[in-house]
Amino acid sequence: MKNIIPLGDMSAEQFLTEYWQKKPLLIKQAFINFDNPLSADELAGLACEHDVESRIVLEKDGTSPWELRNGPFSEQTFEKLPETHWTLLVQDVEKHIPELTGITDLFNFIPHWRLDDLMISYAPDKGSVGPHVDAYDVFLLQAEGKRCWQISSSAIDTCEIISNIDLKILKQFNPDQDWILEPGDMLYLPPGIPHHGVAMGDCMTYSIGFRAPSHLDILQSFIETIIKNQDCEKLYTDPKLDLQASPHEISLNTIDSFNQIIQQHLDSAKQTISHSVGTLLSEGKIQFQSQKAEETLDEITFIKRWQQKESLFRNTAIKFLYIPSVDHIDLYIDGQHCHFDSNNVELAEWICSTLEYNHSDCNKHNEKQPLCSLLYYFYQQGYCYFQST
Ligand code: SIN
Ligand code: CO
Repeated sequence: MKNIIPLGDMSAEQFLTEYWQKKPLLIKQAFINFDNPLSADELAGLACEHDVESRIVLEKDGTSPWELRNGPFSEQTFEKLPETHWTLLVQDVEKHIPELTGITDLFNFIPHWRLDDLMISYAPDKGSVGPHVDAYDVFLLQAEGKRCWQISSSAIDTCEIISNIDLKILKQFNPDQDWILEPGDMLYLPPGIPHHGVAMGDCMTYSIGFRAPSHLDILQSFIETIIKNQDCEKLYTDPKLDLQASPHEISLNTIDSFNQIIQQHLDSAKQTISHSVGTLLSEGKIQFQSQKAEETLDEITFIKRWQQKESLFRNTAIKFLYIPSVDHIDLYIDGQHCHFDSNNVELAEWICSTLEYNHSDCNKHNEKQPLCSLLYYFYQQGYCYFQST
């Protein structure tokens, strides 16, 4: 069966070939009869919690134009806000409310490691965050009310931003397209597209954002893997040192020796490159890092509890990814590596995508490495947790 994807009549293949990272796309009724699962009040409630990242942007009537306030907020903050021209934005909502992964999962036609978060905004009439560009790909889903989006359809690399304000708002914005989005409509924007969305009455927008590591991130992770896995403590040696005309010169021979050292490490690192990629891509934001289970259970007690009454949920705030090999699977969870003695890719999918692990499902898979033991290890690491249902 084909998975349902929110691209209207377009196939995932066509979207990836023609639009992804290339040009904007408006999809009318991407979500037919969209029923917004989160009210504005619930969003404001989240923004009052200390472990939730939230912001309020006040275009006017704040202490200065385009004032940026960072959460957590209190009820009084909301009571004192003006009638119009402000926006509340809450980051990582799907990590705080795991049921909302039902929305982000619909974007699984993009690899999961690319997903950053679901940000939800609420704005009263004329609320906006100003014309700006984002560095990441984003799907802007209209969840409630109407918003007028203006975009300038060519991506820009550099731009001038208004100085002396907390937000990166474009000094010049020359839109060439505009649309009014209604509930269920969605706009895809690749990175670098100048855009500006203004609420037309009360409105809520879901931003499904996709991240991309920088070359610096990729190189850092690679170098860290080399340092961890290779003998890098060895000292440089030069038993064939030639007499130099000047002690101040760094000879070409010396440079060549350094080059050889670097090449040696790079050659051996080729085998570990997938490890550095898996580690990097499964790393999440620091505030969502898994915490070891508070309650220490032995494996038998763990299995009993699981069999008898409690539901074992995957920690959806962290990334579960895998790299298959001929005879085993490398699981990468929250920046950590875990070897799985099986080449059953379907099972790796089950581990990475299941919301609630059933003990009976676990027993169906007859594997060399007992699955229950693997899930016990996950439980200890905080990759899954018990919750009474
Ligand atoms: C918003 O939801 O108000 C802003 C989203 C965006 O422009 O990226
Ligand atoms: Co934006």
